[in-house]
Amino acid sequence: MKRIIEIERRAAPGDAPYIQSFIYETEDESATVATALSEINARVPLLDAGGEAAEPIRWESSCLQKKCGACAMVIDGRPALACDTRLSERGEVVRLSPLKKFPVVADLIVDRSKMMEALMTLRVWIEEDGRSHEKINEDVYEAARCIQCGCCLEVCPNFKSGGSFYGMAGMSPMARILSQTKGGALDERRKLYNKYIFEGCGKSLACRNICPAGLDIDRLLARSNAVSLWKRLMRR
Ligand code: SF4
Ligand code: SF4
Ligand code: FES
Repeated sequence: MKRIIEIERRAAPGDAPYIQSFIYETEDESATVATALSEINARVPLLDAGGEAAEPIRWESSCLQKKCGACAMVIDGRPALACDTRLSERGEVVRLSPLKKFPVVADLIVDRSKMMEALMTLRVWIEEDGRSHEKINEDVYEAARCIQCGCCLEVCPNFKSGGSFYGMAGMSPMARILSQTKGGALDERRKLYNKYIFEGCGKSLACRNICPAGLDIDRLLARSNAVSLWKRLMRR
């Protein structure tokens, strides 16, 4: 299998992007975009498709098993995980670019710290006795599968890094917390959910089929909105 890996690159934040291509050949049918990036970077000397010397490609990874979300990038125009994208299922040219909703650090690395700060604002942890019941545990386990990759934010028309709407990357952990908390802590989380998730979400579900972890976004969103809406109606 032979692929041309075409990468949108920047040496530093704020630099103008440029395209650089690399030729990658392998007999391994299970090779992924992550495999290609690792093996290209291991070449000495590292030459691009035109035979010119190239700098190592900056990209992030950790688990290489769809568990950490670090390797999220735009692959052929769609956000995806590099470690979960097989080259055998791609065309001859595979185009890679960084996620567009976050500031670019270099090449395929973006700064997703605003997404993590949002989780702090939403207080996605249990401070008091939590609730546990088989009826809610299914939703809790489903929501806990979010790996904070940010792919859903890439396709969301309403999400802007640093804005007041946190998108599905905020909704998923909140769906878990809304199921697990009770009493005053639940009231507080409901307010946060309304402010940072419910009010900004257009409910168009453009994010529905993009999640690499395969979260049931429809179900989690419907359940969380119901918890949020129920409280609003009770206040009237
Ligand atoms: S439903 Fe629409 S507005 Fe809400 S998070 Fe998904 S894409 Fe964004
Ligand atoms: S909901 Fe899915 S796409 Fe969005 S951050 Fe979590 S794992 Fe990634
Ligand atoms: S390296 Fe962890 S999800 Fe790809």
